[in-house]
Amino acid sequence: MKSIKDIELKGKRVLVRVDFNVPLTREGKIDDDARIRAVLPTLQHVVDKGAKLIVASHLGRPKGEAVAGLSLSPAARRLGELMDKTVGMAPDCVGPEVEALTGRMQSGEVVLLENLRFHGEEQANDDAFGQALGRLCDLYVNDAFAVSHRANASVVAVTKHVPQRAAGLLLIKELSWFKKAMNKPRRPLVAIVGGAKISSKLGALENMLQHVDKIIIGGAMANTFLKYFGYDVGKSKIEEDRIETAGEVFRRSMEMGVKIYLPVDVVAARRFEADAEARVYTAQEIPKDWMAMDIGPATTTLYTEALREAGTILWNGPMGVFEMDAFSQGTFSMSHALAASRAMTIVGGGDTGSAVLKAGDAGQMSYISTGGGAFLALMEGRTLPAVEALEA
Ligand code: 3PG
Repeated sequence: MKSIKDIELKGKRVLVRVDFNVPLTREGKIDDDARIRAVLPTLQHVVDKGAKLIVASHLGRPKGEAVAGLSLSPAARRLGELMDKTVGMAPDCVGPEVEALTGRMQSGEVVLLENLRFHGEEQANDDAFGQALGRLCDLYVNDAFAVSHRANASVVAVTKHVPQRAAGLLLIKELSWFKKAMNKPRRPLVAIVGGAKISSKLGALENMLQHVDKIIIGGAMANTFLKYFGYDVGKSKIEEDRIETAGEVFRRSMEMGVKIYLPVDVVAARRFEADAEARVYTAQEIPKDWMAMDIGPATTTLYTEALREAGTILWNGPMGVFEMDAFSQGTFSMSHALAASRAMTIVGGGDTGSAVLKAGDAGQMSYISTGGGAFLALMEGRTLPAVEALEA
């Protein structure tokens, strides 16, 4: 895979696919600009080398319709502020008008194309749409790690229709941190896997079993494990059809000598509401009309202890409903434990990244990925289709 640094850029039209799928406030303002900041080194490099910078992204899931609230205009303004430059906003991402606009660009100018997902062809990985994007540039750069697990036209089909292609600096950084953690890691290597469902984390659990020394389990998916062991978990969320799967994961871990950690207590509530009364129960004694919302204090102590000698820690998925203050302590305590650890700490994006940010520990992690689903795909041991296309 060629890096953008290996290519002469002067005077070229460079199309950089980024992931500006950022959280917006109700008023349509950018709530967290981390994904925009993360690609600044690539974008600045293109401008500094005297190229014409055309930036493309998706935002949200508009399903092929032009939805005003999902325009990338706020991202263009934010990018302009961060680069201290005028960033032009294109009316669309393909078509004659966009071709004319990008064709008139001078070296050093920046244009952001409108939301790629305003066209259904983007997510359909439509070849003609990839070709239309390709027409805009002399060099295509993928710096959109967070969407690289999707076979979308702007990261897959487009690569067949451009004179040159390369990886951006963020994509390279993301892949190399993950590789650092998985290939010859400093041991013990510990994976913390949380979140709501075993079904969505099963691939990651199965792949992690081949590599790690310990797996720490949290979030609602832990309830399904507890259920497998015969605990009555009250009204807690579980996946009835995955109870046997939980048992299978547990048996495999025993065979492979991987230590699995499960909650010994929980913070529970009667209602799934932020103002619900919160009580701690042992895993064995969750009352019938209560549900687990977070790991409990004894579990936090156990998990912190399990992390003490870790050489490398990978974390994907919160321990509880951290968006609600009363049920945030388990997740935040894990975040603090990673922050205080001497291990290499790699945190998946999405919910886990937000939790670390909210816990005030972002600066203490070795690396926080910009990818949620893409990071999970790497944990599952999958090759990312966009990376494959770039390498082809
Ligand atoms: C993300 O935020 O994980 C990526 O931008 C992908 O978005 P998607 O899940 O809507 O494809």
